[in-house]
Amino acid sequence: MMRVTGLVKRFPGVVALDGVDLDIRAGEIHALVGENGAGKSTLVKALAGIHPPDGGSMTLDGRPYKPGSAADGLAAGISVVHQELALLPYLTVAENLFLRALPRKAGVVDRRRLRTDAAALLAEIGLDVAPDTPVERLGIAQMQLVEIAKAISTEARLLIMDEPTATLTSRESGRLFGILRGLRERGVAIVYISHHLQEVLELADRVTVLRNGRSVVSRPMAGVTAPDLVRAMVGRDLAQEYPPLPERAAGEEMLKVTGLRVSGFDGPLSFSVRAGEVVGFAGLVGAGRTEAMRAIFGADTALAGTIELHGRKVRVRHPKDAVRHGISLLTEDRKSQGLVLDLPISANVTLAKLRGALLSFKRERALAQQYGSRLHLRSAGVSQHVRTLSGGNQQKVVLAKWLNAGSDVLIVDEPTRGIDVGAKYEIHELLLGLAAEGKALLVVSSDLPELMGICDRILVFSRGKIAGEVARADFDAEHILTLAYSGYLKNGEKP
Ligand SMILES: Nc1ncnc2c1ncn2[C@@H]1O[C@H](COP(=O)(O)OP(=O)(O)OP(=O)(O)O)[C@@H](O)[C@H]1O
Ligand SMILES: [Mg+2]
Repeated sequence: MMRVTGLVKRFPGVVALDGVDLDIRAGEIHALVGENGAGKSTLVKALAGIHPPDGGSMTLDGRPYKPGSAADGLAAGISVVHQELALLPYLTVAENLFLRALPRKAGVVDRRRLRTDAAALLAEIGLDVAPDTPVERLGIAQMQLVEIAKAISTEARLLIMDEPTATLTSRESGRLFGILRGLRERGVAIVYISHHLQEVLELADRVTVLRNGRSVVSRPMAGVTAPDLVRAMVGRDLAQEYPPLPERAAGEEMLKVTGLRVSGFDGPLSFSVRAGEVVGFAGLVGAGRTEAMRAIFGADTALAGTIELHGRKVRVRHPKDAVRHGISLLTEDRKSQGLVLDLPISANVTLAKLRGALLSFKRERALAQQYGSRLHLRSAGVSQHVRTLSGGNQQKVVLAKWLNAGSDVLIVDEPTRGIDVGAKYEIHELLLGLAAEGKALLVVSSDLPELMGICDRILVFSRGKIAGEVARADFDAEHILTLAYSGYLKNGEKP
């Protein structure tokens, strides 16, 4: 259907695509993998007409394809779910879904049809929200599902998904895979980008590996293993998936949360985390983990409850209070809550620790450079604006910001979202290193293997309550999932 030959795309200071070849066939799921900054999203934008390439060529059905804008891409039947969400927050879910072609009756928008069409689409994707809900009220996973629903509603011939499952839990991802397989049956070509190699192995018919803007491997999936993919992406073998847990003695109780209640959830929540401990928070999307963490950090107002640090009660009414008391929160939504996109890397890294003090630009740049090399940040330099970094590299900047704040309690919500396999290992190592230094870590993640890989114990949320606690010795994915579902099932029902 589409052939890409020797595609080149340059940005100031970087060659994002440096000769990419790709063959996309109807009725096939083609996975695109590669490290953070390898050029995947740039390639997607070239295919979609957003970034016209500087060299190379593309053909569609054997004819030259030279899109000059996103509209050209759409007209050619190419639909994209971008890595960074692009919904209109003040419009409703239904309006966002059908924005390109709102149903009309006698010239005015047919509200009733809009609602029923949206409801049907939401049911297909498995998203349980009212079509009239404003998008700004949704969580990030729900927004992601709306983006996906929007893309599949256009009946595209080529559907491109740039990390669609980054924010989803396995239940939602499973549903998405079912839909993608159905589209493949109907002859749709699908390009699928993911850092979850397990998904690629499960789903794809063909795979292309990008490294430094070049396609280094492009072949059918048959016989390909995860280590093969890692080797092609990173250029070396990765010994194991998770770093060993450091030896630590259980320290004093660092953070104690008692009777916390947040708006929209049952609660109350009570738990504590010791110095040196890594505590995981598992649960389905919408179980209230993010909301609880935001309340602890003062980003949302808690309805009730107390927070103690080092045995002393503290008042956290604003993130400023939290930072002052030594609590950090790496939010799940880096674009709208974690970064100032139009500031350089250096300013973002030092953002959480300015507190009115004068920081020289020289010192700021030096700090950013230091964190950049520690986290293997891929950029054209610390003055590069964060907006133009690849998704995974943006995530590293948020992490650097909180490392620089040096808090005793570090809450991380989806810390490795969009991070490639090699960098993921490094981030895990870093988090475990902080625990070894005596910090208390709270890790919220939809990636259960990640929680089981790095946590000392896991608290399982279900419908706004803590449904259970599992110690490392008893980690078992099935048991944890059963707890995660428990709040949503009637007595005796099985998940
Ligand atoms: N608009 C832009 N201006 C300048 N540089 C850019 C721009 N967009 C992308 N880049 C650079 O191009 C390179 C490739 O980025 P791209 O977003 O394609 O990577 P990616 O493979 O999608 O990575 P990730 O897995 O982190 O999403 C990066 O070095 C990035 O900083
Ligand atoms: Mg990307």
